[in-house]
Amino acid sequence: MKVAIASDHGGVNIREEIKGLMTEMGIEFEDFGCECGTSVDYPDYALPVAEKVANGEFDKGILICGTGIGMSIAANKVKGIRCALVHDMFSAKATREHNDSNMLAMGERVIGPGLAREIAKVWLTTEYEGGRHENRVGKIKEYENQ
Ligand code: RB5
Repeated sequence: MKVAIASDHGGVNIREEIKGLMTEMGIEFEDFGCECGTSVDYPDYALPVAEKVANGEFDKGILICGTGIGMSIAANKVKGIRCALVHDMFSAKATREHNDSNMLAMGERVIGPGLAREIAKVWLTTEYEGGRHENRVGKIKEYENQ
């Protein structure tokens, strides 16, 4: 699995935490910034990373900003992206099993690095269940293709 990761200035610490986690897990990843000490605009990071996941260059993407909201809104504008904004363990597992989410967004002003690490671990290792969910995810794909 290849994962693309990025954050704005509000998500640098969690980004570093998740990079450490992926190194420990032996997951291949690429860091797309930000290289920040200064304030940046989250769409400049969310959109290119989402495009890399949508075009198959990467299998999954992880985005972090202050709330996770801006990143998830921007990523979900890219066709083929199902970006889940997650701040709890239940949703981390459920969104993989039910939504086949291919991107994860989190907010560093909402949760700490310890919880973010556990959320990312579950999200990265949980398989999509398919079955009854296939029809539902399929309806989203159909809408995108209209
Ligand atoms: C940056 O101040 C902040 O707006 C951003 O990190 C994010 O929370 C947006 O949704």
